Amino acid sequence: MTDEHVIGYARTDFEPGQDGVLTDIGWLATCADHGSQHEVHAITDAAIAYSGGRIDWVGPARDLPGMYRDRRAHSAEGRMVIPGLVDCHTHLVFGGWRADEFRRRLAGESYLDIAASGGGIKRTMKQTREASGDALKDHAMACLREMSRLGVTTVECKSGYGLSLDDELRILRTVAELQSQTPQRLIGTLLAAHVVPPEFDKEAYIGMIVNELIPAVSREKLAVFNDIFVEEGAFTSDDARRVLGAGLQHGLRPKLHVDQLHDVGGGHLAAEVGAISADHLEFTSPAGRKAMAAAGTVAVCLPFASLYLNQPPMDGRAFIEDGVEVAVATDFNPGSAPSYDLPLALMLACTMSRLTPAEALKGATLMAARALDLDHEVGSIEPGKSADFVELSADNVDQWLYHFRPNVCKRTWIGGRALS
Ligand code: NIG
Ligand code: FE
Repeated sequence: MTDEHVIGYARTDFEPGQDGVLTDIGWLATCADHGSQHEVHAITDAAIAYSGGRIDWVGPARDLPGMYRDRRAHSAEGRMVIPGLVDCHTHLVFGGWRADEFRRRLAGESYLDIAASGGGIKRTMKQTREASGDALKDHAMACLREMSRLGVTTVECKSGYGLSLDDELRILRTVAELQSQTPQRLIGTLLAAHVVPPEFDKEAYIGMIVNELIPAVSREKLAVFNDIFVEEGAFTSDDARRVLGAGLQHGLRPKLHVDQLHDVGGGHLAAEVGAISADHLEFTSPAGRKAMAAAGTVAVCLPFASLYLNQPPMDGRAFIEDGVEVAVATDFNPGSAPSYDLPLALMLACTMSRLTPAEALKGATLMAARALDLDHEVGSIEPGKSADFVELSADNVDQWLYHFRPNVCKRTWIGGRALS
């Protein structure tokens, strides 16, 4: 891999681990980049050789080439090993929680009604603006550490709780700073078009995003993607065309929050604007799914948001049958999805969205990497890719997601380095 292929923040402070071999792997899901989403290309009694932070070789342990046999060996003690998990949709940097809104929703109030009465995204905006830089960073870093203990090695981080030129830049600069303090790979996404903040009317806010914020984000290389929330009370499809078109002119690739609470024609919109992914999709029509299949847009399934908002889940099975690749992510945020537990989201993607366990696993590895344009670098255990993998104390993917237990991740590796 050459540097020119690496997108996102520079990881200049990251030092890869020493050369080595991971042996005694009972069941290895390589999630190799071919075949259908159901095929994780498993190998029993496997080994992985790596050097300089990258994978050199993977296969049955008995076939380990002689040239790797004198490298330092680490035993997986018969555990199952998967690629480092990729959380391709989070709102990681925010101030304050909204547990009272959770209680109000349980008592029958709707997400949109709570938002209209001063809660929701604008409330988190206020708490985020009021939080000190250190408080924002420390909280996000604590979450990242916990995520690494769950096996999450790559994290997409959206802005969207600043909602002004300075506050959106502050969030993305925070993510850039976090990158210098974590071995996890972080990818920034501008989500200034989350809702219209109180200081602006919509036209003026979009004008600010298009004319000032997007050029500034691009100049400072603070984000790779540009996202927008298309929904009642947020933005329209026409707004999305404008905001995403402006982002593209500055090198930011489109992403979408669509069809979460209503069918806003999100599948067609994603195809039209060339979105790399469209996320949520609880209400997407069959025609919308087909448009996404034709355009090659990844569908991102976010089970926590459907569960916490008591929505019908996205029909993941139908997307796969229509030829769309489905990624699974947490949507971690203080409102609709207050959890960063990606393994739990995988289990829910099976029970709620009818993915098979193998499809869910490939959804949070290879397909999630595709949703971030990082599949040349992460998402599978194949020669040339970053040596990111996770040892789980489970027999295989079916058993892991079926007999769901508190964290079974025993060791997380990033760039050939075991995290303590
Ligand atoms: O992805 N849908 C819009 N944005 C977030 C929720 C944000 C919030 O409630 O604070 C989401 O679900
Ligand atoms: Fe989201």
